[in-house]
Formats: sequence, structure tokens, C-alpha cells
Amino acid sequence: MKLLVINGPNLNMLGIREKNIYGAETYEDLKKLIERTFVEKGIEGEIYQSNHEGDLVDRIQQAYFDGTNGIVINPAAYTHTSVAILDALKAVMLPAVEVHISDVKEREDFRQISYAGKACVKTIMGKGFQGYVEAIEYLVEHYK
Ligand code: DQA
Repeated sequence: MKLLVINGPNLNMLGIREKNIYGAETYEDLKKLIERTFVEKGIEGEIYQSNHEGDLVDRIQQAYFDGTNGIVINPAAYTHTSVAILDALKAVMLPAVEVHISDVKEREDFRQISYAGKACVKTIMGKGFQGYVEAIEYLVEHYK
């Protein structure tokens, strides 16, 4: 099984940005946790991050052609704005799980809509980095 973990804008700034919301651990720490989870589950995996909407769309499209079986995606701010990412997820028809580090439900009104979430089989939020582990576990259990 091959999974792709996608992170959107500003998640490369984890450990620096709004530590009161996202914690003190860095993006490198997150990548290590995800890599460890791939190894523990005995699956192949790739981690991708971009600050650019079109790059995220390109990477989702590429997943259709490169043998990816499932996607874990935190589109970050593009969650709440991007119909293009929603359409890309629908286009590739791969099972996708939406992850948010913070509990978006408890935050500002403008964060209450998730476009990407409409193409996802599950959403995990408010569980910090652990949300990525749960998302990978979910895809491994349901789609292997
Ligand atoms: C986020 C929540 C988004 O609203 C925000 O724009 C982010 C991160 C999260 O992981 O909690 O950048 O996706």
C-alpha cells in the first residue's frame, strides 16, 4: 500500500507559527512521526508540502498516475477557500482523509467551511500531530 500525506501553506512553519494553537513541535518533527508511522504499518509513503495552491492540485493529480492508494491531506488555509483542491480530490477518486492540527470547529467563522472535506471519507481535527497517525491508520484499515 502506498499513501501520500499532503500539507498546505504555512505548515512548514510549525514550531514557529502560533505555538499556542499548533504547538512547539516543528514540521521536521511531524515528518519524522509520519515516516515512523509508515514503517510501523509496513507501507510505502510520501510526504509533500507546498505553499502554492496549484502545486497542491498538481501533486493530487500526480497521485492518480503514480500508484498512490490513499491521501491524507491538511490543506491548511486552502481548506476554507479552494474549490480547485476539492475538484482535484474528486478527479483522482482516491480515498482521502482530511486532517487539521487545531480544532477548527472551535475557531473563527471563516474556518467553518471545508471544501476539501467534501471529497474526504473522514475528517480528524483537534488532535495535534496524532491526527496524521490516526488518518494513516484509518486508510490502512479500510482500504488495504
Ligand atoms: C489548519 C487549520 C486552518 O484553518 C489553518 O488555516 C491552518 C492549519 C490546522 O491544521 O489546524 O493553516 O489546517
